[in-house]
Amino acid sequence: MAAGTKLPLNRPNGSTTPPVEERRVTVPDFLAAKVRGVRLTMLTAYDYTMARLLDGAGVDGILVGDSLGMVVQGHEHSLSVTLEEMIYHTRMVARGLHRSLLVADMPFMSFQVSPEQALENAGRLVKEGAAHAVKLEGGVRSAPAIAAISRADIPVMGHIGLTPQSVRRFGGFRVQRDSDRIMEDALATEQAGAFALVVECVPAELARTITAAVKIPTIGIGAGNGCDGQILVAHDMLGLFDALRPRFVKQYAEVGKEIQEAVQAYCREVREGVFPAPEHSFR
Ligand code: KIV
Repeated sequence: MAAGTKLPLNRPNGSTTPPVEERRVTVPDFLAAKVRGVRLTMLTAYDYTMARLLDGAGVDGILVGDSLGMVVQGHEHSLSVTLEEMIYHTRMVARGLHRSLLVADMPFMSFQVSPEQALENAGRLVKEGAAHAVKLEGGVRSAPAIAAISRADIPVMGHIGLTPQSVRRFGGFRVQRDSDRIMEDALATEQAGAFALVVECVPAELARTITAAVKIPTIGIGAGNGCDGQILVAHDMLGLFDALRPRFVKQYAEVGKEIQEAVQAYCREVREGVFPAPEHSFR
């Protein structure tokens, strides 16, 4: 199957009721997509309304990312996001999905202490948040946690390259170029049992080499066009969040601008006595 073909599950844009023949995108679908050369699409969501819109548009996977610390909570990083907050947001997103695979991020210090701690917290994201899979950062150092969670049949998505929870060590959100270390992280993540791997902010050539070296699908962000799929923060690509505009984000819409224009029009019409008009009023 040609690259660019969608998984055979997409429903027409805007439809809210799934046709009966439609089914969920699953972890095996992700693995099969790599074999068939079908590129995977992922976006972040943090609430029901956005989840419903993205799911209805046919995205293959939704990540409830700990990026919510920045785009929802207004912090400069994701380090303060708690497991309880991740469960809360994941549960909201789960209610809006009919089709997409739901992956929940494991926040900072929810998996680093021990594999037992990681397994217990991954279990909470599945049981209380209704996640289908969890994502955690780090390759070699996170391999014991990935293995423990995978052994309990909770699918794990790895995350290597620029891992935002390491922002203090990196000294900022920077492109990662240590190719030997990043390749070791990729291989360790696959070996530990992950079903997919986010590769963030690495040179495109390195991401392509990693993609060829592993059997699990790579999901790139700021990692060029050679990965098996792509993920973006929905708020970034929709133009909802302008505090940070990374170079690798393509702007597909300017929703933030539209919201502001609509609100300005509303304020003007209320002040001028134009809204509500007779058709918005009851006799
Ligand atoms: O938290 C997040 O949104 C992420 C993606 C950017 C991959 O980890």
